[in-house]
Amino acid sequence: MWVHYTDMVIALLQLPAAVAVWWAGTGPKASAAGPSRAAVVSFALLLGGAALRLAAGALMLPWGWEFAGPRLVFVAPALVVAATVYLVWLRPAGGPSDELPVRYRSGQARVAALAGAVGVVLVAAMAELAGTSAAVATGLAVLGASALGWAFRKLPRRPGAGQAGWRPAAARAAIGVALVLAVTAGVSAASVLPARSGMTGGAVDTGGGAAEHQHLGGRSVTELTGTDTAAAGDAAVDRFTLTAQEATVRLDSGEQVAAWTFNGVTPGPQLLVRQGDLVEVTLVNRLPGVGVTLHWHGVDVPNAMDGVAGVTQDAVAPGASFVYRFRAVQAGTYWYHSHEMSSVQVRRGLFGALVVLPRDAPVRDDDTVDETVLRHIWGNEDGVATLGLASGVQRRAVPPGRQVRLRLVNTDGDPATFTLTGAPVRVAAIDGTDVHEPGVLPGARILVGGGARYDLVFTMPDQPVTLRADGPAIVYSPHGDAGPDSAAAPPVLDPARYGTPAATAFGADSHFDRRFTLRLDERLGFYDGRPAVRYTLNDATFPDVPMLMVSDGDLVEVTYVNRSGQHHPMHLHGHHMLVLSRDGRTTTGSPWWVDTLDVGPGETYRVAFRADNPGMWMDHCHNLEHAASGMILHLGYTGVTSPFQTGSGTVNHPE
Ligand code: C2O
Ligand code: CU
Repeated sequence: MWVHYTDMVIALLQLPAAVAVWWAGTGPKASAAGPSRAAVVSFALLLGGAALRLAAGALMLPWGWEFAGPRLVFVAPALVVAATVYLVWLRPAGGPSDELPVRYRSGQARVAALAGAVGVVLVAAMAELAGTSAAVATGLAVLGASALGWAFRKLPRRPGAGQAGWRPAAARAAIGVALVLAVTAGVSAASVLPARSGMTGGAVDTGGGAAEHQHLGGRSVTELTGTDTAAAGDAAVDRFTLTAQEATVRLDSGEQVAAWTFNGVTPGPQLLVRQGDLVEVTLVNRLPGVGVTLHWHGVDVPNAMDGVAGVTQDAVAPGASFVYRFRAVQAGTYWYHSHEMSSVQVRRGLFGALVVLPRDAPVRDDDTVDETVLRHIWGNEDGVATLGLASGVQRRAVPPGRQVRLRLVNTDGDPATFTLTGAPVRVAAIDGTDVHEPGVLPGARILVGGGARYDLVFTMPDQPVTLRADGPAIVYSPHGDAGPDSAAAPPVLDPARYGTPAATAFGADSHFDRRFTLRLDERLGFYDGRPAVRYTLNDATFPDVPMLMVSDGDLVEVTYVNRSGQHHPMHLHGHHMLVLSRDGRTTTGSPWWVDTLDVGPGETYRVAFRADNPGMWMDHCHNLEHAASGMILHLGYTGVTSPFQTGSGTVNHPE
């Protein structure tokens, strides 16, 4: 990824270089006596930068055209044009001894050529820095500036102002600055989000499906409450009440955190249910002045129960409540969190674990230790990392011979490295789905992406076992008195090669009804009127990213291409995705099912899922700061509509 960032920095440096060329190359001196030295030097820098950017593109070729292509396509022509102008321009078009009219004409032609050359390099730089539409806007601005300059030259001269040429420097500078400010203000204003935006009527991507599928409408998401959520006679109903409220919590460091909690604790109470049970959770909001919702991360609930403010419901107002009902179909490790202002609310503590025990497992089992380990970061991104509320070392006593299951949950957006040393271990499940025939590893080192879950199982030996999570740690030992070991970290687990293959209903060679490609980029620009790093999906940000349209029953393929330098844990609500390949290589281990897939810098993943849960579903980056800068889109089913809206004019701010 250093290539990517080097390229970005060069593109960034080209902006002042372009201004310098323009300034020095179009001034009165240049007009009268050919290019000044400053102009030649800055033009050389501009060209050198373009050549380096071309090289960066070439270096990226092995990663695939999606990575190299945009650079080569934009930069190569720019370099050719600019180099031609450079060569021509360097040749004196007329010396100081020439007749004035000749010099005047050549000066104008030169200025025009220069504008073109600087313009194309600028446009190529902006395409990388700010995206295609910003590049187009830059091109238009350069054209506009040239036209202005042209008109300016035609103005009558002040008496005694001398020969033809530009007005004094101050005037030129003022025009330039005004133009840049105007364009910036325009772009900023254009990025302001609408006060209300609905889920229907926007742009759609049909993924190669039929055109009539573009029409939304029909059933409302509120009707999609599930077919098996009536309390059937035999099934147990697990009832919980979660009250969102303020509380001060104490980290083990002694630090007091003003948290937002469920039932006064954070992480919120662990909801333990049995597979097949009906789960009924009443959410009560006692937070002052903010709405809240509950989203069941990783559980394929009926759409109306998905808990996304502005998509499947209105945020629950202070004093109000909402009842969620769904059947716990699949055993595994999940978590819940608020999906209203989630980048703020999750960080402040509105989350907890949801564990679905297998149908036949005993509720209390004295032979096993089953612990959910939630890794959270308090404060901001660089805040304190904890397991539960402990940032230091926790000690637990576990008698040798016990079966231990650790359910690792990463509630943060950045991937966290968990290591387990001291016992042979298996990775039993990923994102709530069992791994097929997980092999025994001498120790585990796992990159748990944002929002993802990994279950580790081991038999307690008579020596200590250390679980580390990039800072905080838990040591399991027979008497609970051992400190962390100093064992070397095992190699990183590759889920694409772990376990053994098993039959799946579809795979890499299946015929797909819909195919979508999502390019993940980072761009400089504005989001909602403020300067921001924009995390874009196919060059767009929420709510402008076209909705992916499917029909009930479709087999869908999605390719995620991460061209940015950041990890993007892509989370699709309501469905589980089968990972087909990474960077073009088909997975060889156990079927790898995910609901949140960490797509690393430079990585390309192909995934597939069956569209079997009608509704309107968020598909977003679970680095919630990225989501809040626009990295959100939706999966829509034909025949489904949503009455809810998001935006400053509503109660809903799902991101
Ligand atoms: Cu864990 Cu859309 O969320
Ligand atoms: Cu992201």
